Amino acid sequence: MCGIFAYLNYLTPKTQQEILDYLITGLKRLEYRGYDSAGVGVDGCGTNADIALIRQQGPVDLLKEKIESMRESLEFDLVRDVHVGIAHTRWATHGVPSEVNSHPQTSDDTNKFIVVHNGIITNHDAIKTFLKTKGYKFISETDTEVIAKLIHHVHEQNPNVNFRELVEKAIRQLEGAFACCFKSKVFPGECVAARRGSPLLVAIKSQFELNADYVPVQYSAEDPNQNLKLHSHGHGAESPVVQRKKPTAFRVDSGKGSTSEISPCNPGDPVEYFFSSDASAVVERTNRVIYLEDDDVAAVKKGVLSIHRISRTLDDESNENVRREILKLTTEIQEIMKGSYSSFMQKEIFEQPESVVNTMRGRIDQKTKVVTLGGIKDFIPEISRCRRLMLLGCGTSYHSALASRQLLEELTELPVMVELASDFLDRYTPIFRDDVCFFISQSGETADTLNALRYCKKRGALIVGVTNTVGSSISRETHCGIHINAGPEIGVASTKAYTSQILSLAMFGLVMARDRISAQKRCTEIINELGRLPELIKKVLEQDQKILEIAKKLYEKRSLLIMGRGYNFATCLEGALKVKELTYMHSEGIQSGELKHGPLALVDSTVPIVMIITKDQVYEKCLNALAQVIARGGNPVLICQEGDKDILERAKDDMFIEVPASVDALQSILTVIPFQLLSYHLAVLRGCNVDCPRNLAKSVTVE
Ligand code: F6R
Repeated sequence: MCGIFAYLNYLTPKTQQEILDYLITGLKRLEYRGYDSAGVGVDGCGTNADIALIRQQGPVDLLKEKIESMRESLEFDLVRDVHVGIAHTRWATHGVPSEVNSHPQTSDDTNKFIVVHNGIITNHDAIKTFLKTKGYKFISETDTEVIAKLIHHVHEQNPNVNFRELVEKAIRQLEGAFACCFKSKVFPGECVAARRGSPLLVAIKSQFELNADYVPVQYSAEDPNQNLKLHSHGHGAESPVVQRKKPTAFRVDSGKGSTSEISPCNPGDPVEYFFSSDASAVVERTNRVIYLEDDDVAAVKKGVLSIHRISRTLDDESNENVRREILKLTTEIQEIMKGSYSSFMQKEIFEQPESVVNTMRGRIDQKTKVVTLGGIKDFIPEISRCRRLMLLGCGTSYHSALASRQLLEELTELPVMVELASDFLDRYTPIFRDDVCFFISQSGETADTLNALRYCKKRGALIVGVTNTVGSSISRETHCGIHINAGPEIGVASTKAYTSQILSLAMFGLVMARDRISAQKRCTEIINELGRLPELIKKVLEQDQKILEIAKKLYEKRSLLIMGRGYNFATCLEGALKVKELTYMHSEGIQSGELKHGPLALVDSTVPIVMIITKDQVYEKCLNALAQVIARGGNPVLICQEGDKDILERAKDDMFIEVPASVDALQSILTVIPFQLLSYHLAVLRGCNVDCPRNLAKSVTVE
């Protein structure tokens, strides 16, 4: 949901062309976060110190073409020893996709201050009204423009204040969520970035060994005189937060022991810095990153990075040496490249035999049949004593919770509630100290999920994360958790993260049932099947060609109904979501037990239907549903277990997909893959952009 990227080189000479290439490559990596428009702000060329803003509606490639066409005016060969460039790829929230609404947004005609922003400023109307009284004129429809004009105003009022403090004064006035990078003509060679509620990291590249593996955090003084009273409403009193010790296994390893008190880069050392919404945009440049926290302000001046905070959290209060660790990324560049696949989504679907292995790696001992989850093991006694488990997420992550509920109820013998994070918040759901709340999120940044997390944390529940993104807000704000380790997921439609989320929750269930003798047979059966899972997934993927043939028969239809029940109900919802978001066809997941309560009215010989029927405890009921559909003239595509003659003989015109049989609790991992492939093929046949579906973005960091 909007990608921010900035690059600063200090005494590391680069041509203007190289700097622009860095910015464009960074934006390309972040494009999955939004692709409505893109822009860069760099220093102009020749003797002119003005900032050049280049912005373009549409994807990053169009911006790249525009920059190419400006080759002469940008003097591509000019070498720059010190330079700051900021860049942005946008997912439109305030204002239509257009050049004028693209970022960077600017303070004035001379681009004195420019800013790129990810998030939503909720009090932008109040700030705009105030600034208009000071003579500011607004050109765009964005909330971001108020930030650029506000810092300009603050600078006019405080001409002697340094860049970082100007940013601090400005962002103290902002409500809502933001990650921002600022560049200024007044402060050449400096870059300031800040976050509250939206993700942002700083990456460091130096030819020298860094002389510390963290940056100490300093506190900026409160500034009561600067309160412009632009807030739309007051902040409610905070309830006390229950402090729990975080286990080391859910933390990210820092490179080495943190003992030094020295800043990582000495003044005068050549160094390069990157600011980015996520790590995928920096892995090809460096593996040293710092994840900023809410209310951090990171500033680079004369090549030295400092981090200040404009507020103190409870964690800060109880910690004398607050600092930001410089972490070592383990992601490799190949992991974020498409390779020989036509899209990231296709690559990620076909990666699933390996991604599930990575999710299980080091956690399942097939000899002893013991499952260990290092990130939550210290909390298992507390979880076992809880009142109920709550699983929360959005979209695909929510579906993974639904897919896991039945097994968790069985293995934990606890009530398990599954909630859409947004709906949960709308209802102000009662939460208690003895609740255990799981927050499931691929990105770890989804605003609704994060808000639900904070809501539950305030009320004293134990907070468990199930995320794919190391260093993400959710993984940092939880008490403990499970990294699903599926590897970077770039395609906007989630695929491999879904199967790894189900797997992670299944492993959690197995850990919980470990000491229950009556559950041992069942656990062993599941653990044995987990050993076979990669091979079983490969077999499903072998059906790709057959699924393409089925897609050819369906792609011109307007709608697709997907029916199933029991463990496969979540697959119906997830399959329908994939079809909707990728193909723009109407699609609906229907619990087949509900057919006769309404949806059966939709069924006739023209409506495309897919039914999932696997041999589990609801098999007979599914056969009844199939009979009802056939009786109404329906001609469904059938998804069944290999060699299930009863089903195969009912399928007409080769309209069936066989998946290998597995234990009921894991079957949904296998039945969802045909829908991932089907939606992929339908999208390609319909001419849709598979990786960038219209109106969507990965990582939804606004409510
Ligand atoms: C659908 C999809 C979305 C996400 C949802 C939550 O393919 O990807 O529905 O699942 O936006 O995102 P995360 O898991 O990052 O919290």
